[in-house]
Amino acid sequence: GEGYDVVVVANRLAVDRDGTDKDGHPRWKRSPGGLVTALEPVMQSQEGAWVGWPGSPGDAEDAVSEPFDWGGMHLVPVSLSAEEVQGFYEGFSNGTLWPLYHDVIVAPEYHRQWWEDYVAVNERFAAAAAEVAAEGAVVWVQDYQLQLVPAMLRAARPDLSIGFFNHIPFPPYEIFAQLPWRRQVLEGLLGADLLGFQRPGDAQNFLRACRRSLQLVPRQQAVEVPAADGGRRRVTARAFPISIDAAAMDELARSPEVRERARQIRADLGDPDTVVLGVDRLDYTKGIGHRIKAFAELLDDGLLRADETILVQVATPSRERVEQYRLLREDIELQVGRVNGAHGTLGHQVVQYLHHSYGREEMAALFQVADVMLVTSLRDGMNLVAKEYVAARHDERGALVLSEFTGAADELGQALHVNPHDIDGLKSAVVQAVVMGPREQRRRMRSLRRRVFEHDVQRWARDFLAALRPDVGADVGAE
Ligand code: G6P
Repeated sequence: GEGYDVVVVANRLAVDRDGTDKDGHPRWKRSPGGLVTALEPVMQSQEGAWVGWPGSPGDAEDAVSEPFDWGGMHLVPVSLSAEEVQGFYEGFSNGTLWPLYHDVIVAPEYHRQWWEDYVAVNERFAAAAAEVAAEGAVVWVQDYQLQLVPAMLRAARPDLSIGFFNHIPFPPYEIFAQLPWRRQVLEGLLGADLLGFQRPGDAQNFLRACRRSLQLVPRQQAVEVPAADGGRRRVTARAFPISIDAAAMDELARSPEVRERARQIRADLGDPDTVVLGVDRLDYTKGIGHRIKAFAELLDDGLLRADETILVQVATPSRERVEQYRLLREDIELQVGRVNGAHGTLGHQVVQYLHHSYGREEMAALFQVADVMLVTSLRDGMNLVAKEYVAARHDERGALVLSEFTGAADELGQALHVNPHDIDGLKSAVVQAVVMGPREQRRRMRSLRRRVFEHDVQRWARDFLAALRPDVGADVGAE
């Protein structure tokens, strides 16, 4: 028939712009995220389409608007004007929803114009998906940028099976209730048949919000809502913790090139006794400042020696036009400068701060260099860096310090769990990780690896799709 049987709708397209070829046509490379890896097989075996924003404002000269085929998928770019990038993406998505859903670590801003842009852009994504989906297709909508799409899509196309997955936390009602458009957001999500969240607590928060705002009574992880045919329709909300392509990371980490690169990095760092690593988007949810504070105090206290220890902090540039991200960058860079000023020596900086993004190979090498991996998020839907570190440690060495405020903490019981607000507790955990002997590292890492390999991203996609539509779920990850 006409159209595509599986349609993914995500703010970001599955590919990133990779310059222009000699005839002036855009070139593309696969987006680094695990989502693409997980969904590619199902997309290729099932006539799949991916609807998303190619990442540059629609009125820019090199804007792409025509759908195209790439890597066995049909890609449908949704263009946004410069005003929409500001109102929908930087504004409502990242100035309102992101802080609201992450425990109001910074104050969310509520602007009616941003909301209007959010509605308009969600309409555009829903219309694009409705246009490419075949009769009875499965449409899987991703993340907080597109919460209104499920209901908009159902109104246009009641024949579809609609799933939604929220990659970030869903907040407790006491926080969610701030949102002036809370009812509209809940009603938008309730257009789906199945809503996936990272943790069971996120699904519970959502169901509680439905009870408080919409007077719907949850039963067995579901609510019933009026259906178009006058009857009732069940909407299920459950946890499906996302993961990584563990086998791919393991294979990469075992490659001779990556191992050689790891040796070289260690030598370039001056072959210190201990390398401590942090890898994050430069985001205020990640607790980067708490981590540097704890590290600096350990140096001040003499519990870590500046000539034997290095903290490598990779801070990937992110959302740089949003005010709170600019302020964060100022703070972190000031803090790094102070620690290096106090504890650095000629030829040796104790904090190596890198404001770049790196490719997969470089990351796999860095993970192998890291004796201690620090994940200190103040709130994090999952945190895939923790899982990547584990998957890269085929040598069963290294220690993971992991914030209890991440989704990953639910699964990674053998990490050293910390409350990053408790600086003394964080310092103790870092010391425990630094002095941990090889036998304990191995015992913990084996258990962590078992979990990450058994619950990889392929399984995540299969479980979600099987719960939404068993006939489609069966095909995911089938070689
Ligand atoms: C988080 C969100 C994603 C988002 C990513 C990068 O992981 O859950 O939806 O794509 O951050 O952020 P960006 O704003 O650059 O897409």
